[in-house]
Amino acid sequence: DTKRLLAILTAQPVVPVVAVGSAAEGVSLARALVAGGIGSIEVTLRTPAAIEAIRAIKAEVPEMVCGAGTILTPRQFAEAEKAGAEFIVSPGATVEILDAARGSDVPLLPGSATPSEMMAMLQEGYEILKFFPAEQIGGAALLKSIAPVIPQIKFCPTGGISMKNVKDYLGLPNVLCVGGSWLAPKDKVAAGDWAAITALAEEASGLTADR
Ligand code: 3PG
Repeated sequence: DTKRLLAILTAQPVVPVVAVGSAAEGVSLARALVAGGIGSIEVTLRTPAAIEAIRAIKAEVPEMVCGAGTILTPRQFAEAEKAGAEFIVSPGATVEILDAARGSDVPLLPGSATPSEMMAMLQEGYEILKFFPAEQIGGAALLKSIAPVIPQIKFCPTGGISMKNVKDYLGLPNVLCVGGSWLAPKDKVAAGDWAAITALAEEASGLTADR
């Protein structure tokens, strides 16, 4: 559902990408981010607690739109959907992942890195893509070159983005929002320093996208 995904990704300029150690940590993190004006989060399936955390955030922080990230297999797609994930993010796109998405109402944000991958996704009906790993594959300069060539596609770049370079991305017409882990630094999460995370969220949610 492209419309739903568009609404989620344009509701704020930055979607935090997080890896949580427990469901309770996910809930505290979600609360801290909501308090700073961030309304959606991508919980990555890089930790065993991810699925439980998605379920807990959905139940306890209903004002947060909770998605699942680092989805590599149809099985993970199904688990995330069952837990209530409202969008699914994959670093790339495989035939199996696209098949899983076709059988689901939960929108998929597939990853892309090259013009051929972007064209293939367009052919599959995807006009909103993740651009990953953004900084490492050419950053905002690459996306700027893509804009006039494949203007139909809008991106959510992630990978190596922080307050230092976020404005380079948000100033582009083909960038809807960016993703990044900088809003939830490991040391602050480990220390339970939720006020620091709320402050980072406030700073990020105050940014504007030129899309
Ligand atoms: C992702 O999964 O989108 C990235 O790992 C986020 O990248 P970052 O940690 O460099 O922000």
